[in-house]
Amino acid sequence: MKAEKVWRLGMGDVHILPGSRHRAPMRKPMWIIVLVLFVCVFLLCAYIFPPQSSSACYLFSSRGCKGFVDWLPPAPAREYTDEEIASRVVIKDILNTRPIVSKKSKIAFMFLSPGSLPFEKLWDKFFQGHEGRFSVYVHASKTKPVHVSRYFVNRDIRSDPVIWGKISMVDAERRLLANALQDPDNQQFVLLSDSCVPLYHFNYIYDYLMYTNISFVDCFKDPGPHGNGRYSDRMLPEVEVKDFRKGAQWFSMKRQHAIIVMADSLYYSKFRSYCQPGLEGRNCIADEHYLPTFLQMVDPGGIANWSVTHVDWSERKWHPKSYRARDVTFELLKNITSIDVSVHVTSDEKRREVQSWPCLWNGIQKPCYLFARKFTPETLQNLLLLFSNYSAS
Ligand SMILES: *[C@@H]1O[C@H](CO)[C@@H](O)[C@H](O)[C@H]1NC(C)=O
Ligand SMILES: *[C@@H]1O[C@H](CO)[C@@H](O)[C@H](O)[C@H]1NC(C)=O
Ligand SMILES: *[C@@H]1O[C@H](CO)[C@@H](O)[C@H](O)[C@H]1NC(C)=O
Ligand SMILES: *[C@@H]1O[C@H](CO)[C@@H](O)[C@H](O)[C@H]1NC(C)=O
Repeated sequence: MKAEKVWRLGMGDVHILPGSRHRAPMRKPMWIIVLVLFVCVFLLCAYIFPPQSSSACYLFSSRGCKGFVDWLPPAPAREYTDEEIASRVVIKDILNTRPIVSKKSKIAFMFLSPGSLPFEKLWDKFFQGHEGRFSVYVHASKTKPVHVSRYFVNRDIRSDPVIWGKISMVDAERRLLANALQDPDNQQFVLLSDSCVPLYHFNYIYDYLMYTNISFVDCFKDPGPHGNGRYSDRMLPEVEVKDFRKGAQWFSMKRQHAIIVMADSLYYSKFRSYCQPGLEGRNCIADEHYLPTFLQMVDPGGIANWSVTHVDWSERKWHPKSYRARDVTFELLKNITSIDVSVHVTSDEKRREVQSWPCLWNGIQKPCYLFARKFTPETLQNLLLLFSNYSAS
């Protein structure tokens, strides 16, 4: 606000000039000198301090006065609490460690499921021949799974009940990460549901996830009721509404990010306490907000902002489309794998905004999706038939 006042004053001075020239012709040379000086100082400052993306600049960018804004003192940064300083220093140190990708590096496939996995046979085909380059973890929250694939036998971790929308969902994700982090060879951590299927053969997915330095965590700003409408200012001072983000829960995360998620208790506890369904009239879904918000705050350039798991929301219902056997065709899979732009729709009914950005992998536009959901168990036979076909592409 202060910056705006100063700027308006500056503009006012410039506009007043011609008028005063007519009324007081004798003072004309003085005014011209002041005007010339003003313009010189302006240009000099614009030259010395080239436009940067400061928040003040963002405020003014539409008015085209970037150079001038940098002239003004920056808005004072919020003073961090002791907990924040401690947390940020630990996180920064972890993020500075070099990722080690070697021949031994593995991808941890972490399945979050109520019970048995209907696509174990398909995953078995997917994993076959790639032993030593992946590991499997299963968190079954309701019933003990019956495994049909050798890759899944004895891979159940200790689990707790999971209630949709509650923090217990985030707790299950953290439990999977904690178990998978115990294997030092695991470098990428993919969260999958029981209705997820792979869209490519193993090598393509391995290279896509392993040979990049970003995590595929979905993240966007939603000013509508299902975005910022779920924010509670009781998360202050650490989580401000300007940092609040939304995103699908199905992530793929590099090791450093998995470790900072383990190390975090400050931001996590804010979401545990103040992001719950039905709290103070808000329906905050912790698993859709905690990771996008947290990672965007501590490492914005380290996340891709889209998820590698496709889901079809085009029907605009409370739940995404579930594919039945008749839906599962070569064409459907081709359609999904040909998408190379990530699209996010805000929940603001009046000004429904569509945000889209290309899926850039190390700077190259690539297909966005490696996995897809939601497939009903009856699609298994079709998928097994198609798999040899689409998985080789
Ligand atoms: C990832 O980071 C490491 C270390 O900073 C670097 O050597 C490597 O080239 C990066 N890889 C990509 C794909 O950017
Ligand atoms: C993700 O979005 C953030 C802004 O929220 C941006 O700073 C960052 O660069 C984006 N990540 C990539 C990989 O483009
Ligand atoms: C396999 O792919 C080819 C195109 O490459 C397609 O014509 C054929 O129908 C597919 N097979 C099945 C079983 O979908
Ligand atoms: C595939 O995409 C095309 C073009 O967007 C669309 O017309 C068609 O219905 C889609 N097919 C399936 C099976 O989704």
